[in-house]
Parts: sequence; structure tokens; C-alpha cells
Amino acid sequence: MISEQTRTRIAGARDSFPRRRQAILPSLYAIQEEVGHLSEEGVDVIAEILDLHPNDVFQVASYYSLVHTEEWGKFLIEVCVNLPCALRGADALADYVGERLGLEHGEDGHAATTADGVFTYRPTIECLAACSGAPMLQVNQRYFENLTKEKVDQILDGLRSLAARYPDRQVPALEIGKVVHATERGQL
Ligand code: FES
Repeated sequence: MISEQTRTRIAGARDSFPRRRQAILPSLYAIQEEVGHLSEEGVDVIAEILDLHPNDVFQVASYYSLVHTEEWGKFLIEVCVNLPCALRGADALADYVGERLGLEHGEDGHAATTADGVFTYRPTIECLAACSGAPMLQVNQRYFENLTKEKVDQILDGLRSLAARYPDRQVPALEIGKVVHATERGQL
């Protein structure tokens, strides 16, 4: 059941854009943040609030790789391995993340999820527009930059603690942002 809070957020997006269709993308993210993926119910709720056909919503969803209909882990980890990041050691870091999670990764961007359902891992070949902080990765769209293996360890440990605090629901984006700041300050 999609919460009132998420419904209000979608209605707010609808009211802040000149065209209802412009609110589809933020609405998709709102559903995904609550449910963990884009559910059928989520598509219907967006369509109802934006007064669109569900197919209109799904067409936009199918265009963006950050919107997914499969159930993934609480955290989607993506390592950028595009050229500027690759020149600063992204490939080795991508391997290291996979090793720490016990997951293989392929260059086709294939996603794999840990048995406990906490992490889904999908290295990406696309630049995430944070080249000045290379090498970098993103977790549920929060950026971690200037990575080292030590920082990867801190990030994964921080995220595991968060997963334990939110066993039955998605981890709020704000909490992941706190892990970003703590990692940058060396406070984890
Ligand atoms: S190449 Fe990795 S963020 Fe641009």
C-alpha cells in the first residue's frame, strides 16, 4: 500500500510543474524510494494522481535505467568505470566491491543481489558526471567520491548498519546521505 506521504509527494510534484507529464520522473523516484522498485501499484498510483494512463507512466519508466521493476536489494551500488574513473583505478575498485559482496559483475551492467537482499551490485559504464571525484560510486543515487579500498570498506559497513536499523522497510535517502558525509569526514 503506497503511503500517504508518498502520495502527497507525487501530488506536490504534479502541482510544481506546468505539465503533468513532467512530474512522472520525480514520482517514479518517490515510489521507488518507498517500495524499493517500481511496483504495479506504484504505476497505478502515479497515473491516478497525475491523471494519466498507466502506459504513459510505464513508457517513461522503461526509458531510464535508474528506474527498475524488479525487486532489488535495499541498496543499489553502481561503480562508474568510464574512462576518467578507469584512469584512476575504477576497474580494480569495481572488482573489490564485487569481492566484498561476494558477487560477480559483468561489463554488460548485469545486476546481482546478495543472498540477504541488502545489496544489489551493478557497475555502470556510463559517466555519472562526477569525474572530478573519480573514482566514484553511487548508492541509491547518492555519490561517494575519491574512493579507496578503505573507503569502500567503510561505506559497506555503514550501509550494513543502516540495513539492520531498517529491517522491514527501505532506508531513507537522508540516512544514506549521512553515510556519505561520515565517510568524507572519516567518521565511520
Ligand atoms: S567518468 Fe566516472 S564520473 Fe565521469
